[in-house]
Amino acid sequence: MKGVILAGGTGSRLYPLTKVTNKHLLPVYKAPMIYYPLWTLVHAGIQQILIVTGGRNAGDFLRLLSNGKEFGLKHLNYTYQEGEGGIADALRLAEDFAEGEKICVLLGDNILEGSIKPAADNFERQPQGAHILLKEVANPERFGVPVFEGGRIVRIEEKPAHPASRFAVTGVYFYDSTVFQKANQLKPSHRGELEITDVNNAYLQEGTLTHSILDGWWTDAGTFESLRSATNLVADTSAKI
Ligand code: DAU
Repeated sequence: MKGVILAGGTGSRLYPLTKVTNKHLLPVYKAPMIYYPLWTLVHAGIQQILIVTGGRNAGDFLRLLSNGKEFGLKHLNYTYQEGEGGIADALRLAEDFAEGEKICVLLGDNILEGSIKPAADNFERQPQGAHILLKEVANPERFGVPVFEGGRIVRIEEKPAHPASRFAVTGVYFYDSTVFQKANQLKPSHRGELEITDVNNAYLQEGTLTHSILDGWWTDAGTFESLRSATNLVADTSAKI
């Protein structure tokens, strides 16, 4: 399985921190934000990784990460998203890199305490479709939220005003090769973006989306509050090990 980290977008919710740099290069405790999803993929045994970035500071990723040697990789792949057409738009740029293999996609501002290796191993055995990781959160209205009926997910709603469950869809997604066909058929949402939630709903409609619950803490780091909380969680966890 190959890995894709999506690190485009403008980071407007962190302005002015993102005025002269990319959100994913900001510090989270002792490391730049992008290190965390990279570590997560490498610890899951994924060696071929593509970073999708964008904006005015894309060159800084190359300066920071170079060929990935520091992460035990033979090399790193990079591509550039023009504009900020949404998460699914950024993902479309990974089609040639994927070469028909299964992929694990991580949002560049997602930080996890635990390992995704068990989920990655399980997905290798899943014959087709997609797999998402859920986490119970205090503020589901900020995220993609699954709607359950009889224990099964029937729909995912993006940032619902009245969440149907307490779960967030985390920014860790496992997809088979049909993901690009699905992403290419999407229409922009009301906020003008191609939504990853619509990709996941397309898998739900064909009955091939599975899910599991993520162990350990999970956070994004794309708002002032979540960046602070991510820094505290990482610092507290590092203090224990
Ligand atoms: O963190 C999990 C949540 O991430 C999910 O629960 C939501 O369903 C999903 O839509 C997403 O919500 P956010 O509003 O937090 O996404 P955000 O716009 O902050 O983008 C998350 C990452 O995706 C960002 O760090 C970089 C990447 N991205 C985003 C956009 C809009 C791109 O690479 N290109 C883009 O155009």
